[in-house]
Amino acid sequence: MEIVILRDTREVGRMAASVFARLVRSRPDAVLGLATGSSPQPVYEELARLVREEGLDFSRATGFALDEYVGLPPGHPESYREVIRRDFADPVGLDPARMHSPDGGAADLPAACAAYEDEIRAAGGIDLQILGIGTDGHIGFNEPGSSLASRTRIKTLTEQTRRDNARFFGSPAEVPHHVVTQGVGTIMEARHVVLVATGATKAEAVHGLVEGPVSAMCVASVLQFHPHATVITDNAAASSLKLADYYRHVYDNKPDWQEL
Ligand code: F6R
Repeated sequence: MEIVILRDTREVGRMAASVFARLVRSRPDAVLGLATGSSPQPVYEELARLVREEGLDFSRATGFALDEYVGLPPGHPESYREVIRRDFADPVGLDPARMHSPDGGAADLPAACAAYEDEIRAAGGIDLQILGIGTDGHIGFNEPGSSLASRTRIKTLTEQTRRDNARFFGSPAEVPHHVVTQGVGTIMEARHVVLVATGATKAEAVHGLVEGPVSAMCVASVLQFHPHATVITDNAAASSLKLADYYRHVYDNKPDWQEL
């Protein structure tokens, strides 16, 4: 696992975007895994800028959303299908036919989850997955106690996550209780995982992710087993890391030929 500690949200966004840009330049038909929430916003904004100003081309790329609320009406502005369309797919010019999302409105949710796994497999798997982290250490919506081998399925949000996400809704009561999320096992199969975390509220979760024991109590800690995981944080989110100075030293002395 590589830890990169940067000054602020803007630097984190630019660094994570550069990983996307490098991949899509070298492999225009790359398969991208896409998170929502606040953390990836600066990444998506920077990618939209690279498309506008530097001709980065996503027209042949494929996207898979990480998760979706269950039960929001189609077209609800906070459904993750809409958020990804608005914040990423439209601004970067991703072909809507190549953008996949879990179906949180399916009558048969287990069948829809299995079908989503099939779609990911049929696309050849995810090349690059961007992740945020919840204050309780979740990735996707794999809340504490999730099976570390899980596949796409329905989950119940913790009240902490519902409170954290209430800012996107009119009132806390409007945040759905249920979600469909790629499983931990699904996420672990992405060939490269880039997790971005900013702000002091994420410091404990980042500590658990990087330095804690691998445990379903902090699901993100499973990334310690991932062969290519990059964690990009700002100083505030790194403030509980015991070895922060060592991670900075490693990055500062990284050989030029070694990419993220
Ligand atoms: C969203 C997702 C979640 C968020 C996490 C952090 O698709 O998968 O794991 O990344 O809840 O959310 P923010 O970035 O809003 O703090």
